[in-house]
Amino acid sequence: MVDGFFMQIPLRKAYRLLHPRPVVVIVSIGRDGRVNGCAVSWITPVNVDPPIIAFSLAPSRYTYRLLKESGEVTVNIMGFSNMEKTHYVGTVSGKDIGDKLGKAGFKLKPSKKIKAPGIADALAILECRVVKEIEFTDHNLVVAEVLHAEAKQRVFKNNIVSEDARPLLHVGGSIYTTVQRYHSIEEY
Ligand SMILES: Cc1cc2nc3c(=O)[nH]c(=O)nc-3n(C[C@H](O)[C@H](O)[C@H](O)COP(=O)(O)O)c2cc1C
Repeated sequence: MVDGFFMQIPLRKAYRLLHPRPVVVIVSIGRDGRVNGCAVSWITPVNVDPPIIAFSLAPSRYTYRLLKESGEVTVNIMGFSNMEKTHYVGTVSGKDIGDKLGKAGFKLKPSKKIKAPGIADALAILECRVVKEIEFTDHNLVVAEVLHAEAKQRVFKNNIVSEDARPLLHVGGSIYTTVQRYHSIEEY
């Protein structure tokens, strides 16, 4: 056993040790067709068949309010080239700004299986229906089934995100990065 070398991290900042993480824009639609979206990096796959994902969304987000009205979202996986636009939709609220996604410079595209639109600028899009929710104090875990998935051709090759796709990764605050190069290991 060894001890030492480690420094204590304030518990409120412990989540930052789980970054860098991919950034998506969750787009939701209200009962009357209002559309909004915000940046989310607390997202993970949770089941293969059926395909289920989960993300953590604060109920204070306008995106959450619309999500509760329709139970539908698109998960838009963003590239490094969309860093500024993504940061904008992760910093201002649709409560204060109408057509926030349009003001960010994002172009929307119709979805195949749901009413909530996707973002045409994204690397890939998952069309999802919310199936479960777990409440906590400041964020809720939203669990959703993926009904349709699509990616731009150069982005997904041999069933992996290709090396030159340059997904947007969030380090913390206003710091972002992307993937530099892939390394593979010999199979045993
Ligand atoms: C890179 C980045 C990642 C974020 N990740 C999350 C997240 O995982 N969950 C969340 O609730 N908010 C997250 N946010 C904050 C929301 O995107 C932000 O509060 C946004 O302004 C909410 O907009 P809305 O009120 O229009 O929905 C993130 C912000 C940024 C910039």
